Amino acid sequence: MNILLRPAHRCAPWKRLLGSLRKSSDDNNSDINDINDIIVGDNTSSIDTLGSPAPWKSMPSDAPPPLGQAHIRHCMDPCLASLPPNSEPSFYACHIDRYAAMALQPITLHRLLHTGTPPLTRERLLANAQYLHKERPVRYAKHVKLFQQLPFIVNLNPNLHALYTAYYAHFEELRQQPEVRTEEDQNAFVAMLVRQSDALCDIMPGVARGFHECRAYLGAAARGRFLNELIHKRIALRLLTDQHIALHRQLTAAQQQQEQGCGIAGAADQRLQGIIDTRLSLADAVRASAQEVQAACELTYGDAPAFTVDDHTGACFCYVAPHLDYVLTEMLKNAFHASVQSGHVAHSVEITVAQGAGRVAVRVRDSGGGIPREIRKRVFDYAFTTATDQADVGAPPTDAAFGNIAREQAPIAGLGFGLPMARVYAEFFGGSLHIISIEGRGCDVFLELPSIEQSKARKI
Ligand SMILES: Nc1ncnc2c1ncn2[C@@H]1O[C@H](COP(=O)(O)OP(=O)(O)OP(=O)(O)O)[C@@H](O)[C@H]1O
Ligand SMILES: [Mg+2]
Repeated sequence: MNILLRPAHRCAPWKRLLGSLRKSSDDNNSDINDINDIIVGDNTSSIDTLGSPAPWKSMPSDAPPPLGQAHIRHCMDPCLASLPPNSEPSFYACHIDRYAAMALQPITLHRLLHTGTPPLTRERLLANAQYLHKERPVRYAKHVKLFQQLPFIVNLNPNLHALYTAYYAHFEELRQQPEVRTEEDQNAFVAMLVRQSDALCDIMPGVARGFHECRAYLGAAARGRFLNELIHKRIALRLLTDQHIALHRQLTAAQQQQEQGCGIAGAADQRLQGIIDTRLSLADAVRASAQEVQAACELTYGDAPAFTVDDHTGACFCYVAPHLDYVLTEMLKNAFHASVQSGHVAHSVEITVAQGAGRVAVRVRDSGGGIPREIRKRVFDYAFTTATDQADVGAPPTDAAFGNIAREQAPIAGLGFGLPMARVYAEFFGGSLHIISIEGRGCDVFLELPSIEQSKARKI
């Protein structure tokens, strides 16, 4: 396995550096006259509420006629299964409607970070549990409503229906959960959070499969709107939940240490405030991801390009490590895959890391021939993929953002969820992900992220 590491360069200001990264993309290829535009895809990242099931309009002419919302809800609602289609919504469905209509109580990143600022106290954690106790059923009800707005036939898909049912069951359990007042309540509450979180940790492969199977019934734009909204909601809910679970564990561990006379946690532990790493090394994260993807590439194809990491800054920033890891992995998977598929495995994948005021950037450059002009606009569409060979297909996208899938078995290319999902993750805290493709040469993929401390006013 070849890993080429270049010496670090002098720190460059953020904007100039990103500008020069882009300029060097052009300069290095000035002999290539087909420099494509920056690919940003359709702007499907806005989190608008999904409207009525318009995708039926794009159905083939032999498709079944549109179904009314009442019938759709009847068929989607496990509690209504035994009622005739035109029944009024049941007692349970009223609960969903009532909760889904409630306004969210989003918190700022400042508060998310503050919850974990040492010294952590029981009182602060109790207040956080009480907030989650009220907030989570509302958020789950909105998940359920989102599914109820999909076309009937799409919701019949077993992969998607299983997820709908799971969200519904979690909502019902949360709605009936007693208030959190004591330490025992807190322990029981956290145990339930862990159980619910584990039950939904691995949903994205099923979601991807479901939408792949239903692609004839839902247009790319509607699919994009639904999935952007679902993934955005899921990231927010998981952040709130995982932060609470992590803080509860940290407090419990600190108390045990004190009881055993081990003193307070060391500096390394204090770096982590819940799930937020306050001094995350960008270059270390890049190297770790690249090594894993390189190993997976060798395992899948029997070969992999070398990679270089050009670290100008030794950048450290405040971020959620699994989010960064997820986005980097998807960028690198594409670069390694393109290098092998195009036969340019002798060319290294070049990774450049940069830092500016409160922001960091990564450029991944491959020599895999670039993205053909005719598919450029579709690469950010969910379920769009050109993966065709046996190693590629049948391999669903990982939901590695939360580290739940064994990486050595992670596919190099799958069902076309890598780029669009990575972009939702990048944009979640106010970052961006875009591609410059140069036909005949390769792709430059740019990731730019703000430090969480920089976007404290942002709400989740
Ligand atoms: N660096 C690249 N070079 C050439 N083509 C690329 C590159 N990155 C993406 N593409 C094209 O964009 C398509 C969509 O990419 P995306 O990452 O979303 O899905 P995928 O890699 O096919 O599957 P998945 O990421 O779900 O495993 C790819 O199938 C490929 O055609
Ligand atoms: Mg991919």
